[in-house]
Amino acid sequence: MSQKIESHLVENRVFKPSKEFSKAARISSMAQYKRLYKESIDKPATFWAREAKELVWQKPWKKVLDWKAPFAKWFVGAKVNVCENCVDRHLDGPRRNKAAIIWEGEPGEKRTLTYQQLHREVCRFANVLEARGVKAKERVLIYMPMVPEAAIAMLACARIGAVHNVVFGGFSAESIIDRLDDSESTTVITADGGYRRGKIVPLKASVDEALKKYKKVERVFVYQRTGEKTTMKRGRDLWWHEEVASASGKHTPKGFDSEHPLFILYTSGSTGKPKGILHTSGGYLVGTYVSSKYIFDMQDDDVYWCTADVGWITGHSYITYGPLANGITQVMYEGAPNYPDFGRLWDMVEEYGVTTFYTAPTAIRAFIKAGDKFPESRDLSSLRLLGSVGEPINPEAWMWYHDKIGGGRCPIVDTWWQTETGAIMISPLPGCTPCKPGTATLPFFGVDAAILDETGQECKANEGGKLVIRKPWPSMLRTIYGDKTRYKKTYWNDYPGMYTAGDGARRDKDGNFWIVGRLDDVLNVSGHRLGTAEVESALVSHKAVAEAAVVGKPHEIKGQAVVAFLTLKEGIASSDKMKVELRNHVGKVIGAIAKPDAIHITPALPKTRSGKIMRRLLKELVATGKVSGNVTTLEDYSVIAALQKELGK
Ligand code: WTA
Repeated sequence: MSQKIESHLVENRVFKPSKEFSKAARISSMAQYKRLYKESIDKPATFWAREAKELVWQKPWKKVLDWKAPFAKWFVGAKVNVCENCVDRHLDGPRRNKAAIIWEGEPGEKRTLTYQQLHREVCRFANVLEARGVKAKERVLIYMPMVPEAAIAMLACARIGAVHNVVFGGFSAESIIDRLDDSESTTVITADGGYRRGKIVPLKASVDEALKKYKKVERVFVYQRTGEKTTMKRGRDLWWHEEVASASGKHTPKGFDSEHPLFILYTSGSTGKPKGILHTSGGYLVGTYVSSKYIFDMQDDDVYWCTADVGWITGHSYITYGPLANGITQVMYEGAPNYPDFGRLWDMVEEYGVTTFYTAPTAIRAFIKAGDKFPESRDLSSLRLLGSVGEPINPEAWMWYHDKIGGGRCPIVDTWWQTETGAIMISPLPGCTPCKPGTATLPFFGVDAAILDETGQECKANEGGKLVIRKPWPSMLRTIYGDKTRYKKTYWNDYPGMYTAGDGARRDKDGNFWIVGRLDDVLNVSGHRLGTAEVESALVSHKAVAEAAVVGKPHEIKGQAVVAFLTLKEGIASSDKMKVELRNHVGKVIGAIAKPDAIHITPALPKTRSGKIMRRLLKELVATGKVSGNVTTLEDYSVIAALQKELGK
């Protein structure tokens, strides 16, 4: 770390759960949390084995953990079927007829699938996949709207041991190509389209475009969602509804090795190429099951709703796997939170009697901006617990969420975790942890989190440092797909045997973790990770661009906005039209979420004498209009004045 991490936020308000909430909660006192936490750290095998025994294992494990840093094996020797645990496990008792998924499409259609119906749909599709030759370990790319079939497709893959690779429906055809290529996928599951803000997103068309360049896909299953005109390639493309029409609703779930790969999910890092994070079966299942159970205090009569998309890790762990493994009823929604207006989600909370609501700070800030009239005109009294994920929640947003949505009575679990960690790592337990707005509070069971300084010493209270996890945990990533070296280098290089998260943080005197933000070149835009290098390489791939530097700028709703600085090739003139074209180009290469909010075309970028772009200066310039600190390494000082002029500062 070249700069000391500073965090000036001082927050003294403390919120404790009500007596009634605590009394009914799974973990109801700090003493109980501390006792279990201590056990989970001192005797992890005892703690995790007891929890894991609540699930179905086709063959028991010989050993809970085999740790040869940085490679972990959990529940060694066990055989397990993750899908069986999320679906079949609930069919023996009254949960059989319980709603598993209550779904609403953006235009307003409603569908409910009980566990029994979900089981039948998953079995039918699993039978289809097998009949069409999809094998265990084969990679299957899923590119779907938020319909129950997205979860069904994931579960069906898990059931037959195929490895899913879900790509967020907002990513472009080129992003699909990269992910197909890196994962060497041979099967695609998609839909004709999906609804977003009243428009149709043509998903199959993007897949078709990608498959013009990537030729190894043998079959494409197409779920009919919008009914729009779709071209189907003979011998390759298959309609989901035609395929399942004659498929059996019965399917025997085979047990797979506990370390059998479950999925790959791509996420941004500090280079231009997204990393394929690999998660495996037994440990991931246990991690998401246990964290869902305790952190969302899952009870049999809950109606749980996580607003994430299945294309992100939150959708994997806290829509598809964790909640279903717990046999909970959950709400799933296809579209935008402001369609037709900002009352949509609150209408759904009222209609379905949602008890637990899990969303992102960026959404909360958008709701604040839209006005209190939306939540105030709905009955939100069914809510008992709120959650937040994706970025630090600013205390104002926390307070608004607490008062306007939670009616002042719901605990808020601010959950810190990552694609890599698979499950929530730092979070309050709603029945016991005293919350302060803005802190994710304390580590979850089994999570040995700490903040270290440059020399590897633990930081003192309120001193900023690097967030690390000192012991392996069941849902940890196992590697970067196809790149062990990058896995070791990215996560295990800073301190021997410890996982570095890439986040800066501090602990207050009560031991609460305050996350400051990323230490690497990763932006957090609306709770989504975006590598500056990825956006830069997208920009440079345009024929007019010579060089690009991308930085984040604080943004009221998104948290961070993407700001790009560019130089153009000789003889190409800057124009507004060019800026529009470049924005769209980034949308085409990565997806709409990566489009820069501002593009500044300048004659030169600030560089060191050795030619490195000084992004730190650009960041400061966009935030404050000035540069401070050490600029002696800057090669040409006049660049700053030119940039200030371009920025109008
Ligand atoms: C950030 C999302 C503060 C953090 C689950 C992390 C958070 C990155 C929080 C992972 C939180 C996530 N408080 N920061 N509660 N949750 N982050 O992989 O910087 O999309 O490293 O996983 O989001 O993003 P990812």
